[in-house]
Amino acid sequence: MTAGRGAEPPGSRYEQREAGRDGTGRFFMGREIAPVMGHLGAPWLERAERIDEERPDLLHSLLSLKPGMVVADIGAGTGYHSWRMAEKIGPGGRVYAVDIQSEMLSLLATNMARRGVTNVVGVLGTITDPKLPDNILDLALMVDVYHEFDHPFEMLAAIVKALKPDGRVAFVEFRGEQVSVPIKPLHKMTEAQVRKEAEAHTLEWVETRRELPWQHLIVFRKTVQKR
Ligand SMILES: C[S@@+](CC[C@H](N)C(=O)[O-])C[C@H]1O[C@@H](n2cnc3c(N)ncnc32)[C@H](O)[C@@H]1O
Repeated sequence: MTAGRGAEPPGSRYEQREAGRDGTGRFFMGREIAPVMGHLGAPWLERAERIDEERPDLLHSLLSLKPGMVVADIGAGTGYHSWRMAEKIGPGGRVYAVDIQSEMLSLLATNMARRGVTNVVGVLGTITDPKLPDNILDLALMVDVYHEFDHPFEMLAAIVKALKPDGRVAFVEFRGEQVSVPIKPLHKMTEAQVRKEAEAHTLEWVETRRELPWQHLIVFRKTVQKR
């Protein structure tokens, strides 16, 4: 157990408790937030085994990407998903690749240049704001990242603002319900927890896909303002 980073102000959505193993001690809606993966871990994002463990080809076909779409890869890291989406949406579409680590965005830019991909735009966000324009996205994709947002509520609210009126947001998280998925518990999420947190926003659940080897894809659509 490690010490937390200090008490939250009264009325905060977040709670600071004693940190669990590998945790931050920061809690939101009953779950402990995981630490951010540092840029020194970037080689792990490009490991060859990911192809079989995560089936990015299958994920991208499940996302129903179409030429001309405007999408965001939130927590893009090295751009593992950015260039794959860029290929599907074609030169008339655009991928906003958002990350809070400038080192990740540098690696991403190098990877896009090496692949000759020109429709991916790197965006340096903050822990509360992806710094995207309002009402521009057909889809925001978050692969293995939402569980490590320091401010998940503020991030998701800002992502919803960036969606077009019928835009979608897709969570891809390692399945927390399945003990056999070989990932640390704090880096997994259950479908129930994702739905609880997403449905606190103007989002309605569309579908949960379980075809991927270890992850679920949980998709929501933006709805009109809740009263
Ligand atoms: C585990 S990596 C996953 C990267 C990528 N999605 C992939 O699947 O290869 C998580 C990434 O999310 C980024 N991240 C964490 N919190 C973020 C936030 N609030 N906004 C944007 N990016 C964030 C980290 O800097 C890191 O690059």
